[in-house]
This record gives sequence, structure tokens and C-alpha cells, in this order.
Amino acid sequence: MSIRVNFLGIDMKSPIIAASGTFGFGIECKDYLDLNKVGAISCKGLAITPWSGNDGVRIAETPSGILNSIGLENPGVDVFKEKYLPELKRYNLPIICNIVGKDIEEYGKVARALSVEGVHALEVNISCPNVKNGGISFGTDPKMAAEVTREVKRNTHLPVMMKLSPNVTDIVTIAKAVEDSGADAISLINTLLGMAIDIHTRKPILGNITGGLSGPAIKPIALRMVWQVSQAVHIPVCGMGGIMTGEDVVEFMLVGAKTVQVGTASLITPTAITNITEEFNCWCQENRVDDITQLVGALQI
Ligand SMILES: Cc1cc2nc3c(=O)[nH]c(=O)nc-3n(C[C@H](O)[C@H](O)[C@H](O)COP(=O)(O)O)c2cc1C
Repeated sequence: MSIRVNFLGIDMKSPIIAASGTFGFGIECKDYLDLNKVGAISCKGLAITPWSGNDGVRIAETPSGILNSIGLENPGVDVFKEKYLPELKRYNLPIICNIVGKDIEEYGKVARALSVEGVHALEVNISCPNVKNGGISFGTDPKMAAEVTREVKRNTHLPVMMKLSPNVTDIVTIAKAVEDSGADAISLINTLLGMAIDIHTRKPILGNITGGLSGPAIKPIALRMVWQVSQAVHIPVCGMGGIMTGEDVVEFMLVGAKTVQVGTASLITPTAITNITEEFNCWCQENRVDDITQLVGALQI
């Protein structure tokens, strides 16, 4: 019995990936858990130059979730390649670089800069709700989503996974647009746009006024979207949104996800990924699942 899976041409020891923005560049977490036991890491979103992110309060706790408005603070591709990549490469941990851009050209430049030895795949964030330029504006328009996909594909030899936004009326249209433009896989969902209010000051809690909601509160929406998308496309789907347990992983696989990502859970318990992997492994053993791909899309309706 094994929970290995092949995804984006990578032979992964488990289908459970650390979600972008919640696990830094991996190295920050090495004292909490064994990085060699993590299926893969999707690193914090990288731009061509450093971004400072949003001012003021960036995190607000909400019932069963958190709102964040980090604004894609990141050190830029050069610092990543010089400081983090050499150390991260020492682990038996596939590296997926999550990328962002202020315009279509920047996405291409970042893709090219990160197409280096040691990086296994790119995840393209066209879905961040917390930045004024870039991010979500590319993920809510099928034509723009298609253009970004083509630009990234033109600039890399690596497999490309497009990360979709749930802040749309019809996610299937966007999914099909990126598939038709050459995406190798789709990941979803990014955070849902929300607000939190301080009634004493009568002000929004977040400096950016709005933020992105993640955690268990969004799981039902994420499951619905992963189910819709995986039925509509032929490329593999990576599901996320509120995964806290091994059984949550099974739910995402049943609706069509080949792999999953764990985000907010790691902010609560730094060992969440290895705990969830252990729980998923036990569940598969107890339920005599020899090949985990048998679970993918096995929902009975
Ligand atoms: C603090 C924080 C920072 C995030 N930063 C990124 C990012 O840089 N790029 C990205 O694609 N998604 C980012 N996300 C979204 C997560 O990767 C994930 O899509 C989302 O949180 C849903 O999964 P979860 O409910 O397991 O957290 C971030 C989420 C949080 C909470």
C-alpha cells in the first residue's frame, strides 16, 4: 500500500502539498516537521522584484476561517534563487514555484527566471484578491487567463499549473480557457473576498479593507468548484480550501482532485501537513485503498 502519486510529471510520495503563502519557502518550517515527508511545496508567490505587501493589519480571525490581506509581499526571484533554493534543494521535496505579476509580461519574466535546475513546476497565481494590479484581474476574465497561460508556457519548459479564483460567476469557463491555452494542471481555490468589521471603531479590521477568506469556512465552496472543474477539463486538478484532516483529503479526491494543498491548517498547527498525511495514509489502509488514484473522481451520484 502506498500513497504515492504522479502529478505534473513529478513522482510524489504523497498527494499532499503545502499551499502557497502558508509555508513560506519551506525552510522556515524545517524545525517543526520533516520536510522530507511533505508531498511537495508550493512556495510563497514570487514576483520579478521584491514586493512590500499591504499596510496595516493583514490578518483577521473569522468563524472557522481567517481573512488575510498580505498583498503578496515577497523577496523577488533573485533572493529566492540565491538564499532559499539552494537549501530547499537538499530535501527530498519537490519544489513548485508560485508566481505573480503586475502585467502579462512580468508573468513571462518570472516564469523564465524560475525555470532552473531544482524547480519542478510552476503554479501561476491569477487569483490573489489582495493586490490592485495583477492577481485576480487575470483570473476573472477568461481571455486574460488564457493570455497569461500562453505567456508562461512560452517562457518555460516546466509543467504549468494555473491557480484559479473562486471570485467568479462561472469557474468552468476560466478552467476551460486555461486548459485550451496549454495549462498542464489546474489548482483551486484561492481565497474568497470578504470583510471583517470592528464595531467599536466602526472601521474595517484589515488595513486593505477587504481580504481573502480561507480555512474550513470555505471547504464546501471549494469542494463544489473542484467537482465542477474536474468534470469539465481533461487535465489534472489540485484541490484546496479548508483541508484540516485526512478525511477532508478523501473528500477532495472523490470530487476529482488528484492532489491537494493544505494552507490555513499549517498556520494553526505547524505539523498539520504531516498529521494530515498520516491520517490519510491510515484511512487508505483501513479502507483497503491500494492505489489512491482509484479515489479520484469516484464520487457516487
Ligand atoms: C496568509 C496567506 C497567504 C497566502 N498567499 C498566497 C500566495 O502567495 N499565492 C497563492 O497562490 N495563494 C496564497 N494563499 C492562498 C492559499 O494558498 C490557499 O489557496 C487558500 O488559503 C485556501 O486554502 P486553505 O483554506 O487550506 O488555506 C494564501 C493564503 C493565506 C492564508
